[in-house]
Amino acid sequence: MPSGEPSAAVELLGEATRLRLSPADLDECAAFLEDVEHSGSAGSVHSLPRPGRQPSRLLFVGIGDGTEAGWRAAGAALAKSARSEPALILVVPHDLPPAGLRGLAEGLWLASYRFELSTADEYELKRVTLALEATPEHAEALERARAVAESTRLARDLTNMPGDRKTPAWFAKRIEKAATGVPQLTISVRDEAALTEQGFNAILAVGRGSTRGPRLVELSWRPRGARRHIVLVGKGITFDTGGICIKPLANMKLMRKDMGGAAAVVGATLAAAAMRLPVRITALAPLAENAIGADAMRPGDVIRHYGGITSEVLNTDAEGRLVLGDAMAYAVRRLRPDVIVDLATLTGAQGVALGKRTAAMYSHSDALAAELSGAAEAAGESVWRMPLSDDYAEALDGDLADLVNSTDIGGGSLLAALYLREFTGGLRDSWVHFDMSSPAWADSADGELTKGATGWGVRTLTRWLETTAT
Ligand code: BES
Ligand code: MN
Ligand code: ZN
Repeated sequence: MPSGEPSAAVELLGEATRLRLSPADLDECAAFLEDVEHSGSAGSVHSLPRPGRQPSRLLFVGIGDGTEAGWRAAGAALAKSARSEPALILVVPHDLPPAGLRGLAEGLWLASYRFELSTADEYELKRVTLALEATPEHAEALERARAVAESTRLARDLTNMPGDRKTPAWFAKRIEKAATGVPQLTISVRDEAALTEQGFNAILAVGRGSTRGPRLVELSWRPRGARRHIVLVGKGITFDTGGICIKPLANMKLMRKDMGGAAAVVGATLAAAAMRLPVRITALAPLAENAIGADAMRPGDVIRHYGGITSEVLNTDAEGRLVLGDAMAYAVRRLRPDVIVDLATLTGAQGVALGKRTAAMYSHSDALAAELSGAAEAAGESVWRMPLSDDYAEALDGDLADLVNSTDIGGGSLLAALYLREFTGGLRDSWVHFDMSSPAWADSADGELTKGATGWGVRTLTRWLETTAT
C-alpha cells in the first residue's frame, strides 16, 4: 500500500564523524575532479569507484550557485545516482545554510518517490547521514522539508492511483486517515445524502453517471490565535471520461489524474498542520467521477449551483468548473475567508499555452499574484500569470441559465477562469485560480519529479502559507 512516507531518512550527525578521508584520499579526489572536468553545475554527478576500499564509491555532486534550487537539484541527482546503495554519508560545506538543507532534503525525498502499484522496481537507498553541525534553524528547515515532501508524496500517491480503486469515498477515507490524531485538524465528509440536502447540485449532477457517488471533503486547520483564514479549493474528479460528451481514448487514458488539484490542496493543508503554521486553512475537495450512465448529466441540462447561480451544461466534459462552482460558492457564503485559492486540472488549453511544467495563474490581485509567483519560484514549481480579460465574459451568458459551462470561441483556460470568477462573490479581488492540467503529470523523470503524478501545487501553496502566516 503506498504510504506517502519518505523511503530515505536523513539523520543529522556531528561534523564528519562517520567519514574519514586521508590526505592521500583527498589528493585522489582532486585529481579525479580535474580529470572528469566536473563543472559543478547543479545536479551534475561524477562517480569514483574504489573497489576494495572504504568508502567503496565517492559521488561528487554539483550544487550550481549554491541556492536552495541548486541544492534541490543536487538532492534529486543523489537520489538517482545512489539509488542502489543502501546507505550514503553526505559531506556538505560546514556553512551550509538552512535553505540549502531544505532544498537538498526535498530533492532527495521527492526524487526517491516510487508508486508501488506501478512498478516492481525496488528503491534501495534508505538512509542518508549528513555530516553537519546542525543549528536549530537547520533542524527546522529539515522538518519543513519533511512535511512538504510527505504531503507531495501523498498527493502523488492519490493521483497515481488507478481509477478503479480511486472512488470519491476512497479518496475521502485516505484523507481522514492522514488527518487522524493531528490536534486542531478536523475533517468532515459530505456524502450524497448530505450534498442533496444542502443543495450541492452541480457536484451531484457530475457524479450522477457513476455508481460510485460524489463526496465533498472539508479539511479544517484551526490553530489558536490565527488571524487570517485561507480557503483552498481543489478539483477532485477521480476519473474524467468526459461524460456523455465522451473523450477520445488518447485524451481519456490519463484522466485518473483529474483530481490533482484536490490532492494538492489537502496535501498543503496537512503540511501546514504538520508545521503548525499560525493561519486558519480550510481545504475543500469536491470529489466525483465523471462517468457515463443511464442517469448521467446530459448536454442542455440546467443545474442550480449551491447558492443559486444556474448553469446550462453545453458540454458534459466541462465538469470541473461545475463542481468547483459549488465548492467556491459554499466557501464564500459559509466560510467567509480572507483569500480563496483554487487549483484544478481544468483545461487541455492550459498546456497548449504554457507547455508541460508551467501552471496558468489568474487573479485580479497584483499583490496575491506576486506572493504566489514568489512562493512557486522559491519552492521550485513554475507558474505564469495570465490576464483575466473581460472581453470574453459575455460568451458565458446562457439562454436558459445564468451561465453556460462551455462555448466554442476558444481561449479555453481563460473562459474556465471567468466561469469560476462568477462564484467568488465579494471575494473577486481576493481570489487566485491555478489551471494546472499539464504540470500535474510528468511523462518521464526530471529532477525531483518522478514519472507520473508530480503533486504539483503542494510546494507552492505550502510555501505561500508559510509566508502568509508570519
Ligand atoms: N480534465 C479535463 C482537462 C484536462 C485535459 C486536464 C488534459 C488534464 C489534461 C477537463 O475536464 C476537460 O475535459 N476540459 C475540456 C473543457 C471543454 C469541454 C470546454 C477541455 O479542455 O477540452
Ligand atoms: Mn472534462
Ligand atoms: Zn476534467
